[in-house]
This record gives sequence, C-alpha cells and structure tokens, in this order.
Amino acid sequence: MRINLLLVVLFLSACQSNNQADLKKQVEVFSWWTSGSEAAALESVLETYRALYPDVEVVNASIAGGGGSAARPVLQTRLIGGIPPDTWQTHHGAELMGQYVAPGFAASLKDLYAAEGWHELFSPSLIDMISNDGEPYLVVLNLHRSNTLWYNKPVLTEYGFSIGESLDIDELFEILEQLNTTDVSPMCMGDTGIWATGIMFENTLLGTIGPDRYLGLWNGTTSFMDTDVMEAIRIYDRLLDYLNSDHAALSWDQAADKMASGDCVFYSMGDWAYGEFIRDGLQENIDFGWVAHPGSDGIHLLVTDGFTMAKDAPNPQETLNMLRVMGDRVVQEDFNLLKGSICARNDCDRSRFGPYLQWAMDEYAKGVAVPTVIHGSAAPADFQQALNDALTDFVVRRNKEAFAKTLANEAKVSGFGS
Ligand code: GAL
Repeated sequence: MRINLLLVVLFLSACQSNNQADLKKQVEVFSWWTSGSEAAALESVLETYRALYPDVEVVNASIAGGGGSAARPVLQTRLIGGIPPDTWQTHHGAELMGQYVAPGFAASLKDLYAAEGWHELFSPSLIDMISNDGEPYLVVLNLHRSNTLWYNKPVLTEYGFSIGESLDIDELFEILEQLNTTDVSPMCMGDTGIWATGIMFENTLLGTIGPDRYLGLWNGTTSFMDTDVMEAIRIYDRLLDYLNSDHAALSWDQAADKMASGDCVFYSMGDWAYGEFIRDGLQENIDFGWVAHPGSDGIHLLVTDGFTMAKDAPNPQETLNMLRVMGDRVVQEDFNLLKGSICARNDCDRSRFGPYLQWAMDEYAKGVAVPTVIHGSAAPADFQQALNDALTDFVVRRNKEAFAKTLANEAKVSGFGS
C-alpha cells in the first residue's frame, strides 16, 4: 500500500511538472465522486467553470471509492509530500479540522467569504461548522442527509404493504420477516466499502439512543458500553440477517441499482442514493419512497460536502475562481438536483426541487442536525478508522460485546470516550 501510494505521488509530481511546462493555467479538483450521479453532479459544476474560464484546464482528479475510502489516503500522501491538489473534497467538523486545518494544509477563506458576502448567504450554524478561530476553511456545496430509509414501492405494494410517514423498528422487522419468505432480499446493501454498512449502523445507533445520547458519544457523556448502545448493536445485528447475499461484492451505488430494479426492498443509506434512483429513471413516490430511518424522525444526520483551498495551491487564482463558482446559487441548485442533496446556501429556489428534497429541506430546517461519524465529522480520523475495522470484524464474527468494548476502548484512545 505504501509503495503504491509513493508511486502515485511520484507519478502525479511528474505529471504536474510536465503539465506546468505545457500549460499556463489549470486547476485541479480532487474528489471521490465517480458513481453515475456523483460524476454528473460534479461535471455540472466543472462545466460552468469551463464556460466562464475557457483558457483554464480543469483537472478532474476523482478517485473511485464511495465515502472517499480510497481517495483520502492518496490525498494525505500528496499533502504530506508537498504536492497538494488545488482544492479537495472534505466533510465538516473533525475531518476538516483534524486532517487539513490543524496540520496547516488548508488555507483560510476569510477574504473570499467577505468579498462574496457569504456570511449572509450561508447559515451561521453552517459557517461555524467549517470555521476555526472565526475563519472559514471550506466552501460547502451541499448538505446530505444520511438517515433515510428508502424502499421500492411497487415491490412492497405487490406484497401488500404500504408505508406511512414514519416506520418504527418493530414495524420494519415485521415487514422484513414476511419479505424473507419471498424471492426478494428484504434489505439492500453494497459494502465493498465497509462504510456503507457503517451507515446502517450509524442510523440504527441514532434511531435507538436519540440525538442527545448520540452526541454524548463524541463528548464522553455516553459510553459505548451503555445498555441502549448495546440495544442498537442488537438491532443492527438483526438487520444484517436480511441483506442481499451478494452485498459484500457490491458498491453502495450498485446496491441502489438493485433496489431500483426490485431485487431488494429497503435501503438505509444517505440521500446520495436518491441521485442514483433519479439517474436510473425512477419517479419519487411512485417507484420509490422513503421515511426517516426508524427512530430518527425529526433528526438530520448531516453529511456536508465542501471544497478547501490548499495553503500552497499551485494555481491560487484559478482555485479561488473555482470556489466562487461552487458557492454560486444556480450552480448549487443544478449540482444538488443531480446529487440528491440540498443547497448549502440558504437562498436556493425550493420550487426547482422534487418532493424528497423538499422533505429533506423541511427536516433540516427543524434544527436537530447531528454530525456523522462514518463520514468523519463527529470524531477524529483514528476513531473513524477503528470503527471501520470494528465493523469489518463484526459483520463476520457478529460478537456484540466485543464490538461495544472495542468502540469504548477506541473512544478512550482517541481522547473523548468515557
Ligand atoms: C460521502 C459524500 C457523499 C457521497 C458518499 C458516497 O462521503 O459526502 O457526497 O458521495 O460519500 O460516495
């Protein structure tokens, strides 16, 4: 792995010096947006930039692997090696601050925010999430919701089920049990990237222990050994029994396609899945429906996507222009319609968005947003990695006590556990 990363760095550095000799202006945008909907959404931003700055070459440096599982290690190697991309994708909170701001890799965007008047156009709470010592370090393109339970509506109708505005965990298990006697897989999963099953765990945790105790996990007031956390682990363990048998061979977006085609029914996944359903030609409320993951009604498990500016960005002016484009209202609307998320800006045209995204806007507006641990916002990177490792072990061994103990220990090692 280390040698591979080193080769990547050497290769990129060679490309960079060649490119710089050949081309005067370029801007490199680093992300993990390579699924159908992710790539299309990113492309819509880059297209706008190209139209505005036709003499600049846009280098789309996307590395496949949902959740950034493959991109982030490459990025770290580049940052440590002193060859940063001009701008890279990251999430708010611990990931932005711990990985990029504290080590001095990201530049302050204070002047950009002031020049663009963004303090009026992004909510104070969002600006707070991306600021250190009062200075913003990220231009946020979108707000994803992670705790959504999607379902294939025609398949449920065929088996005589109709879902209302909410579903509790007992009702869900009742339906799963009955679907288990049919040819379809009751739950959908594609966890070639372990983070995807991590989403189902995180959603179950939030839905079982509630937002206050969930937040307590990250400040040491809730222990991973508590009985209600154990109950969440028990529920997650039960949910694993209903997955499609090929889950370990599928990516998160392949699992979304599987739900779209009716081979599996429920999918506990962030609303990047919505982007895939729409891309697959599905119609909301006809071909698919959604509720909050059981127990998490009225809570928004928030996943943000934003872009930094490298402290020593090779192309600073072009990068600032790219970030300006990303902060534009129409760019955010176009991007989010394809991506399956809502605008980070607070002045987007709501009427352009369909029923699901309007629902997500209303849910977010209720004001109970909690950070995701799976996507790096709630806890330091070391804990995020330890959680992924513990999940990898758990889905094979299914040892609930060992899982809880490992998380409790790792939280202490990371300095926030009780
Ligand atoms: C998240 C990212 C989302 C989505 C997902 C799957 O980390 O915030 O935008 O794309 O990964 O790749």
